[in-house]
Amino acid sequence: MKILLLGPPGGGKGTQSKLLVSKFNIPQISTGDILREHVKEETQLGIEANQYMQNGELVPDNLILDMIKERLLKNDCNKGYILDGFPRTIPQAEGLDRILEKLNQKLDKIVVLDVKDNDIIKRMSGRRMHMESGRVYHIEFNPPKNEGLDDVTNDKLIIRKDDQPDTVKKRLSIYHKTTKPLIEYYDSKNIVFSIKGNKKIEDIHNEIITKIQNV
Ligand code: AP5
Repeated sequence: MKILLLGPPGGGKGTQSKLLVSKFNIPQISTGDILREHVKEETQLGIEANQYMQNGELVPDNLILDMIKERLLKNDCNKGYILDGFPRTIPQAEGLDRILEKLNQKLDKIVVLDVKDNDIIKRMSGRRMHMESGRVYHIEFNPPKNEGLDDVTNDKLIIRKDDQPDTVKKRLSIYHKTTKPLIEYYDSKNIVFSIKGNKKIEDIHNEIITKIQNV
């Protein structure tokens, strides 16, 4: 199963991806998580990407496509994967088409999480994250068992630097201008379905599963 999750920043892509990983036992490929790992390790890519990420801007397409090409060749992708946060520009989608053609693969389902900007701003201000694993929480909507600590490792949770309100607004504006047009780009493939994101995390998950298995 090869699934692409599309949606605004803070729309719940990471949260839903983690649930799908448990359900289907396939890897989540989050370009945001991979980039944050590079930033932490201070690799050349991480150093280059960091300035864009902190400003809430997109990292250049060529860097992202090289990174994805390498990731999709790993053995754990043989059974399928969940693309989270990639592609987010038309050139990235075209690049993905070329990569998939070479690998003789195709996407099975594209899930669009439809969440209003005002809800996103509320969600981002309460998000807490475990850096190592990419696990995400919300102080109100999805709190950890112990305040401020990751459920699995007990490590301290952090607030992402790009979750500051001004940066969130910029990320949302880039989403509307640059990433949302991908819905139309993929529409003709007849594998796209949209889900209202203003529901409980578990309800959205169940709706995704039903649609994935029935469509
Ligand atoms: P990335 O990490 O991908 O950020 P994003 O797409 O902006 O998405 P987020 O991770 O912020 O949100 P999400 O949709 O995963 O929501 P989440 O599940 O956490 O990218 C970061 C940066 O890296 C980009 O800005 C860019 O610079 C760069 N980058 C990454 N990919 C790139 C690419 N392809 N090209 C170029 N640059 C790239 O949920 C958010 C919060 O809401 C959480 O607190 C969660 O608990 C809560 N929540 C989730 N669902 C619900 C619900 N149903 N109800 C209530 N609360 C909920």
